[in-house]
Amino acid sequence: MTEISTIYKLSLIAFIYALQVYGTPCPVLECWFVQEKPGRGGGFPAAMSQEKSMLYIRTDPGSTGTGSKQNPPKDINPARVYYVTDPGASLCSPALCPPEGDVQKPHCEINPFLPQPALVKWAAPLTDSAHSPIYLQADWLSASLQGLDGQLTLSTVMRAPTATNKPSVILSVSSRTVSVRSRLGEPVLLDCGFWTDSSSPLSGSGFSVEWQYQFRGEGRLVLAYDGKSDRLAETAEDRAELNFTALHQTGNASLTLQEAQVRHSGTYICTVYLPYLLAQVAIDLQIEEPPSLSISPATLPILFPEQSISLQCEAAGFAPHLLELRWEFAGTDGGVRPLGEGRLSGHRQAADGTFTQSSWLELGRDGPDLGRGGEVTCVALHPGGTRRATVTLSIIGVRGPSVEDSMAMVAVALGLYGLIKIFSWTFGTTGSTEKDSECKKEK
Ligand SMILES: *[C@@H]1O[C@H](CO)[C@@H](O)[C@H](O)[C@H]1NC(C)=O
Ligand SMILES: *[C@@H]1O[C@H](CO)[C@@H](O)[C@H](O)[C@H]1NC(C)=O
Repeated sequence: MTEISTIYKLSLIAFIYALQVYGTPCPVLECWFVQEKPGRGGGFPAAMSQEKSMLYIRTDPGSTGTGSKQNPPKDINPARVYYVTDPGASLCSPALCPPEGDVQKPHCEINPFLPQPALVKWAAPLTDSAHSPIYLQADWLSASLQGLDGQLTLSTVMRAPTATNKPSVILSVSSRTVSVRSRLGEPVLLDCGFWTDSSSPLSGSGFSVEWQYQFRGEGRLVLAYDGKSDRLAETAEDRAELNFTALHQTGNASLTLQEAQVRHSGTYICTVYLPYLLAQVAIDLQIEEPPSLSISPATLPILFPEQSISLQCEAAGFAPHLLELRWEFAGTDGGVRPLGEGRLSGHRQAADGTFTQSSWLELGRDGPDLGRGGEVTCVALHPGGTRRATVTLSIIGVRGPSVEDSMAMVAVALGLYGLIKIFSWTFGTTGSTEKDSECKKEK
């Protein structure tokens, strides 16, 4: 027994030592290699082909890497197995490393990449010197990856000496805020960071950063920074900021929107340019503001059983327009009853892009039986949260006559009729003048 535990301890020590020497292992990434099928064109949309591919990642170009010792699966074309050197270790993020046996895998796609001078004016100066360096003559690839649970989106450009299958990452752009939700008026941080291989001849001559906004097919520029002249080339959004110190020191190209507004909802694309290269990541921003609710009248008069009243619930200032309004009634007995959605208005949009919607509810005579009253609540269900508003309803007296009451009333009426008859007989014999006048009329 002691021998076994010693062996166990020794192997554990060896394992920890190995971890310290080689660092946390980088994942082996399963990817799709996607490219246009050759031989088409001529105005037709290009047909795409996709092949299974595998990336073995190492961070140190000197080491053989743990992955390269493994044998790639037989169903993968050896030409699509890549041994990638990534000194920036962006491909080694834990978000790309699913737990053992997890069926969910990060999404990964690689494509052939064609280096070319940028056309946009904030990046064009990077390649002013017009002639392409020999360095560009190589196999270039781009890879885009999405980590598990939306923790990471990553895009890299890699260069492999021609026909070697051993690319190195030259530029990588990533974001840890793949999907951002914010309330109105709050500052919003859209994370974007980049890494460049400082030993590459392309990395010494500056970079440019661009933030584009897209919503339902429409795009606009938010901000563009020309790194060559160290100038903001363009800002369409006055309260969007980059931290230039962080941008130059750590490649932090995160965008801060000072005050979230409804019109900011959409997709933001962070693009980083090096001479001849670019990589970009997309981030979704959703501004979610729950409604503020009010019921009018805010205080209800005391109702008699036969009275009815109309209540209005107004949900104001919400975005997006997805809203469910409904009414509830909590009686004095403590039971809660749904009263339906009432009569709903359409959505009205205010100048700031937020929406307003109302619901009307009729209570009283024609509505449900509310006994002696209770609390009437308007409930608004919205992606930004649930809101409630409540008014108190009091009803006095009994509601409507019962069968017994009706019979008693008939009895009273009959009694009264009898009394009146007796009176008329009694006074009829003495009051002769009245009797005469009646006779005259009849004649
Ligand atoms: C900009 O980034 C630098 C370095 O990361 C940091 O020290 C500084 O506080 C940041 N400035 C602002 C205004 O956030
Ligand atoms: C980038 O800067 C923002 C603030 O501008 C900060 O919140 C974020 O953590 C920074 N990212 C990195 C990777 O340092």
